[in-house]
Amino acid sequence: MNQFSDLIAHAAAHPDQRIMDFFDINDRAADFSAAFGDFVFDYSKTSIDPEARALLIALAERMGVAQKREAMFTGAKINETEGRAVLHTAWRNPEGSVMVDGVDVMPKLRETLARMEAFAADVREGRFRGQGGAITDVVNIGIGGSDLGPVMATLALAPYHDGPRVHFVSNIDGAHIHDVLKGLNPETTLVIVASKTFTTIETMTNAETARKWMAAKVADPAAQFAAISTASDRTAAFGIDAARVFGFEDWVGGRYSVWSPIGLSVMIAVGPANFAEFLRGGAAMDKHFREAPFARNLPVLLALVGIWHNQVLGHATRAVLPYDQRLLRLPAYLQQLEMESNGKRVSMDGADLPYNSGPVVWGEPGTNGQHAFYQLIHQGTRVVPCEFLLAAQGHEPDLDHQHMLLMANCLAQSEALLRGRSLEEATEIMRKKGLTGAELERQARHRVFPGNRPSTTLLYPKLTPFTFGAIIALYEHRVFVEGVILGINSYDQWGVELGKELALALAPVLEGTSDGAGKDGSTRALAAKIRAMR
Ligand code: F6P
Repeated sequence: MNQFSDLIAHAAAHPDQRIMDFFDINDRAADFSAAFGDFVFDYSKTSIDPEARALLIALAERMGVAQKREAMFTGAKINETEGRAVLHTAWRNPEGSVMVDGVDVMPKLRETLARMEAFAADVREGRFRGQGGAITDVVNIGIGGSDLGPVMATLALAPYHDGPRVHFVSNIDGAHIHDVLKGLNPETTLVIVASKTFTTIETMTNAETARKWMAAKVADPAAQFAAISTASDRTAAFGIDAARVFGFEDWVGGRYSVWSPIGLSVMIAVGPANFAEFLRGGAAMDKHFREAPFARNLPVLLALVGIWHNQVLGHATRAVLPYDQRLLRLPAYLQQLEMESNGKRVSMDGADLPYNSGPVVWGEPGTNGQHAFYQLIHQGTRVVPCEFLLAAQGHEPDLDHQHMLLMANCLAQSEALLRGRSLEEATEIMRKKGLTGAELERQARHRVFPGNRPSTTLLYPKLTPFTFGAIIALYEHRVFVEGVILGINSYDQWGVELGKELALALAPVLEGTSDGAGKDGSTRALAAKIRAMR
């Protein structure tokens, strides 16, 4: 018995339920969708029936989602294993006061935000200059949450990008920084070192490489560096002037930090006003999340659909499928947001979880994915719940005919997943092509789509900074709600530590200065082969 038992029993009692049949009763589409402003979240193409929904909402209530939500927004230390508050939301609503350890954290936040805005404006308007002229290129060096959010946001907001070009370096692989710096002029490049801890080996190594690259051409390389971190002692030790250091506190998790100074590269790209709209979109979703009843609350519903598919029905993955090319990196961003947050194996009190935690999240924009992995989604043996995102309008009025085709494809995919194609229909199609007998049956069977495959659709008017902010905050809160229902800590990431420690110990083995004693046979043999190949 666990918190999902009644839901699992309910699902087991309806093994033959066809989602399609729900549409014969009442107005399924209206009943199983919810709105936030002009957004529509449609979950009618799932196997959630009214009773399952009632059980899911009761589960959220029973697990204390409302109380924990308030605890998060008001600065309680809900990240219990690190003893930290979770207050990234403060960055998108820089009004009022929020107390952490008896101190109002908002005045300092407002001051940093104002400094970011002034610096971004100076860079964009040529008052902050490189040693060879106005800044033409910005290179953000960071990884994980110090990279994925800014990369995704810069792509998403491309129609608003009127500042210098922005580039991103994350990988420790020297190929990454080499290929990015190649072709840039050090005299007109600003390097932003973005690292919450300012210790991450990838970022610090790349920052050193960038400094050397800059030093070869400019007299004072540090003057063209800015830093974003919670560790001002380390940014000072790196030699970056405090005037260009933008701090934040440890109550902003790395994967939740795009709203904070970590978003500086985005602000330089699109300008402080558009960045403020992005924050406003996030804040609007916060308000909706805090105030809307669970049955009409988008983050809660998104989370409950996730719980239904993963913990109740046992579907191990979910595909995020934006029919919005500029959300190209949303799936990668969500992989960190969801899997680093909810990929845990023990509950808050340290006990082994008796059920699965968060799903594997993956995806690609449509229509590209259709020509790659949708085959498996439609006809494979596993069910992959799909989450479509779709803007009603594009940013290219003269290419609206292409947007129409994009939207038609998105709706067609969710319809195909729902409806499928029966053996009778497939047989009829093949008969019309002239097939008969055993060959007709064989060919028809290959063309059957089982259908009854679940999907949701998030429809929004247009990908503006406001809309984009709301979408990202929606997914953040979804992770929160799922984490509360799973009884886990969504805000630590101990699972990334072991590999980091082992990598440090392996470097001397690869260099040949250590014999790798204590390493397993496979690792030692691979290290020896690497040494032989170099
Ligand atoms: O991969 C672990 C992690 O700590 C992420 O949570 C974080 O986003 C990333 O590394 C980068 O950390 P930092 O911003 O401290 O360099």
